Amino acid sequence: MLLRAGRFGSFGLPLFRIIRPFTVMSSVMSEPVPAKREISPPPRPPKKKVKVKKYKEPPVDPVSSEGVLINDIKSLLQSKGISEQNVINDMQEFFSRPKGEPHPEHGPVTVKIEGQSSVGDGIGLYEVSPDRYRVITVPFALAGETVEAKVFKTFKYYFQADLIKVVTPSPVRNNDLIKCKYFGQCSGCQYQMIPYENQLEMKRQVIVNAFKHYATGIDRSRLPEVLPTMASPLTHGYRTKLTPHFDVPRQGLQAPPPIGFGIKGQKKVLDIEECPIGTSIVNKGMTEQRKHVHDNYASYKRGATLLLRENALTPEERVCTTSTKEIITEYIDQFKFQYPAGSFFQNNNSILPLVTAYVRDNIVLPSTGKLPKYLVDTYCGSGLFAVTCSTASESVIGVEISKDSVAYAQKNADMNGVKNASFIVGEAEKIFEKVNTNPEDTSIIIDPPRKGCDKAFLDQLLDFSPAKVVYVSCNVHSQARDIEYILSDPRNKYKVESIRGFDFFPQTHHVESVAVLST
Ligand SMILES: C[S@@+](CC[C@H](N)C(=O)[O-])C[C@H]1O[C@@H](n2cnc3c(N)ncnc32)[C@H](O)[C@@H]1O
Repeated sequence: MLLRAGRFGSFGLPLFRIIRPFTVMSSVMSEPVPAKREISPPPRPPKKKVKVKKYKEPPVDPVSSEGVLINDIKSLLQSKGISEQNVINDMQEFFSRPKGEPHPEHGPVTVKIEGQSSVGDGIGLYEVSPDRYRVITVPFALAGETVEAKVFKTFKYYFQADLIKVVTPSPVRNNDLIKCKYFGQCSGCQYQMIPYENQLEMKRQVIVNAFKHYATGIDRSRLPEVLPTMASPLTHGYRTKLTPHFDVPRQGLQAPPPIGFGIKGQKKVLDIEECPIGTSIVNKGMTEQRKHVHDNYASYKRGATLLLRENALTPEERVCTTSTKEIITEYIDQFKFQYPAGSFFQNNNSILPLVTAYVRDNIVLPSTGKLPKYLVDTYCGSGLFAVTCSTASESVIGVEISKDSVAYAQKNADMNGVKNASFIVGEAEKIFEKVNTNPEDTSIIIDPPRKGCDKAFLDQLLDFSPAKVVYVSCNVHSQARDIEYILSDPRNKYKVESIRGFDFFPQTHHVESVAVLST
């Protein structure tokens, strides 16, 4: 090809045009044109107007599941020496593609799973062209496996795929352990094919990584080794609460709908008759509730979530409750608890005696090894820790934002003959405005929602500095972030004594973490 100055070049416009080699042009020009031939232009496909859509990256909370996954991807890339720029998908190009046109890179692809995300999926990596990689998340795939996967969604840092086939299985995989015929489709469990001991170690590793990546400002030497994950006594049949749901389309139902849990990676519901991680009581309730919906499907105008919650009439006699207004009774060791069926309570009773004993054992004061005079239970719900730890402190005060839960916390204290506990409706962020105890005689339990503690809470904690902190968390990533905040602050008097996971949800990727801090 020759590059020649264009004919507008003389007007000073720096234009160039591409001219084919002369030989080709001359052969075209010399072709004889028949005198009477009608010349009609060749049919052209209608011009597709491809509107370039703008793409604005939605903000991602670093401690949300999406934020944690992106963080896992970034650290995997770093460990492989691959720059983020070499994997990023062009989202503007992706969203501007004509509808229905398959993406050339969406596979199926055969891919090596290079890592395990903290939210359960395998993370694969493959090269699409020299120095250009794609990251692909594959559910139900394990680190070290080679799998065949088909991409169905594009995100900035990764493709999301369905697992089609495990080509080379990990030595850890044992498909004989799978107890659910819906495993691999249902979004509820991720780890049924993994021996339980390995699940526990994977969860320990999630905690290790959380502190590595979400508490980067702390010198590693200031953190203890993460202890082995405390196993759940029941690994199946442990969930005392299930919430299957069904959808109703705008035109109503013509047949009984699928009732169950979300299909992995889709917004559809998977029809499920039985869930092996649910207790036999809630599974019985599921059969009855499914029948009720099947018998009455035509009357539903909207979709619904069914509540199935185990309720102990006596320690031995249990039923399934389905109304949010009913009051649930539960027994943990020698303690009896009641709470409204629709409110928060832990869902794996088999592990609760172990967790409450661990928290109780850890509120002892660091200087003397004695029990604290005062115990503050923040985010106390219906008083699980306040009541079970009441024997280990002279007085207990609980704080909780939900008025209903506080009413039940007080009821639970009274019902168990606990005389030294009182409860406040209010924000945990303001608890030390009301508590005027000697910090050296005070221990605190922190059990916040998934987002962790607000800065306001941590600031008042640092100002007051109770001698002992037992931080229970259902999201170790926000826990690690909060502990970094505490340890990095000039007011800090704490060191981290221990960090340990508790497996509240076997067969899934979830892990609870308990961190103990002392002055
Ligand atoms: C993870 S639950 C823990 C409940 C209790 N410790 C238990 O184990 O049953 C978190 C609790 O924090 C409460 N909560 C959320 N934000 C709060 C706030 N700012 N102040 C006080 N309580 C709050 C919720 O209502 C919920 O009961």
